[in-house]
Amino acid sequence: MSTEPTSTPTPSPAKTRTGVWLVGARGSVATTTVTGAAAVAAGLHPATGMVTETPAFADAGLPPLSALVFGGHDTTACPLPKRAEQLAAAGVLPHGLPTALAAELAAADEEIRPGGPGPGDTRGDEELIAAFAADLTGFRTRHDLARVVVVNVASTEPAPGAGDARLPASSLYAAAALAAGCPYVNFTPSTGLHHPALAARAAACGLPYAGRDGKTGQTLLRSVLAPMFHQRALAVRAWSGSNLLGGGDGAALADPAAAAAKNAGKERVLADTLGTAPEGEVHIDDVPAMGDFKTAWDHIAFDGFLGTRMILQTIWQGVDSSLAAPLVLDLARLLARAHESGLTGPRPELGFFFKDPDGGSSSLAEQYTALLAFAGRLGETR
Ligand SMILES: NC(=O)c1ccc[n+]([C@@H]2O[C@H](COP(=O)([O-])OP(=O)(O)OC[C@H]3O[C@@H](n4cnc5c(N)ncnc54)[C@H](O)[C@@H]3O)[C@@H](O)[C@H]2O)c1
Repeated sequence: MSTEPTSTPTPSPAKTRTGVWLVGARGSVATTTVTGAAAVAAGLHPATGMVTETPAFADAGLPPLSALVFGGHDTTACPLPKRAEQLAAAGVLPHGLPTALAAELAAADEEIRPGGPGPGDTRGDEELIAAFAADLTGFRTRHDLARVVVVNVASTEPAPGAGDARLPASSLYAAAALAAGCPYVNFTPSTGLHHPALAARAAACGLPYAGRDGKTGQTLLRSVLAPMFHQRALAVRAWSGSNLLGGGDGAALADPAAAAAKNAGKERVLADTLGTAPEGEVHIDDVPAMGDFKTAWDHIAFDGFLGTRMILQTIWQGVDSSLAAPLVLDLARLLARAHESGLTGPRPELGFFFKDPDGGSSSLAEQYTALLAFAGRLGETR
C-alpha cells in the first residue's frame, strides 16, 4: 500500500462566521445591537422585534445570531462594556445584562478602531478610505469571516453642501466598505453611498447595499396611517409632528442641518403615499433628561364626507435603540445572505426597514410583502 500523501487537497472548512462592522460602534444603537445579539444567542432573552427570527425567514439561509462577530469604528474612546452599563443604568438595557455578557462586550470592544476624521487629521479622503478599508480586511482575515457587512449607525451628519471639497465621514466609510468588498447598510439619514462622487464606485462594486435611515417610530406609524387615509379617500389637510428625545441622537439632531436630513425622510413618506405633501412640519427637540426614551406626537387634520373636519392625534413613546437594534441585526443578516447569493446593487426589497428606501412602495404593508418575497428568493438559492 502506498504511503504517498494523497494528491487530493483537504478542503478547508467553509467559513461559517459573518462579520458585522458598526460605524458608530460605541453609540446607543450599536451597543444595544451587540448586547442584544449576544443575549438572544445565549438564550437569555427572546428575539422580540427581530423580523428575521419569525417563521417566514426560517428557510432563507440567514446566518444565525451565534455566527455573528462584531467590530466597528468610533471616534469616542468609551469602552463598549461601560456604554452598556450606562444604558442599563438608564433603563434601556435590562439590569445585569452587561455583566452577564461582559466577555462578549469585551470581545467586540477589542475590534473597535478609532475611525475618523479626528480633529487635526491631515489625511486626505482616499487615504482615509484606504485606512478604513484596511481595518475591514484585517477584521475579516483575523476572524476568518465569510464576509463582513458594514452598517452605519454613527451620529447623523448634515447633508453636504454643493461646494464641499471633502467627502462627509459617512461617505468615506461607505467607500471603504466597497473597497474592501463589504455589503453596506446605511441606517442613518447621512449621505453614505448617495454622494454623487461615489456613484461610479457604487455602480461598479458588485455588492448589495441598502438604506437610508431606519424606520423605527414616528415614520413607521406614518407609513401605516398614510396609506389608510389614501385608501379610504379621506383628504389629509395637514400632518404635523413633534419629537422630544435626548441621548447622543437628540444632541446630534439639535443641529438644525442634521435635523433637516432626518425630517426630509419623515416628510417624504407622506408625499410618496398621499401623492402630495400635506401642510405641516416635523420638529425635533433635544431634551437630554429623556435619554433614549422618545416621545413623538403626530397631529393629522383631515376632511371626511361633505368636508367634515376631523383630527387624529398619535403619541408614540419608544426607546429608540431598542427599536433600532433588532432591525440592524435583521439587515446585517439579510444583506449577508444577499451577498452570499450573488445579489448586487441597491436592494429595494429591504424598503420595509427604511424611511428613505432605494425604490419600491412607501406603504409598510406592500414593503412587508416585498420583503417576504425576498426571503423566499433567498431560500431558493440555497
Ligand atoms: N430608533 C433609532 O434609534 C434610530 C432610527 C433611525 C436612525 N437612527 C440613527 O442611528 C444613528 C445612531 O443613533 P444612536 O442613538 O446610537 O446615536 P449615538 O449618538 O448614541 O451614537 C452615535 C455614535 O457615532 C459615533 N460617531 C460620530 N462620528 C463618527 C465618525 N466620524 N466615525 C465613527 N463614529 C462616529 C459617536 O461617537 C457615537 O458613539 C443616528 O444617526 C440616528 O439618527 C436611529
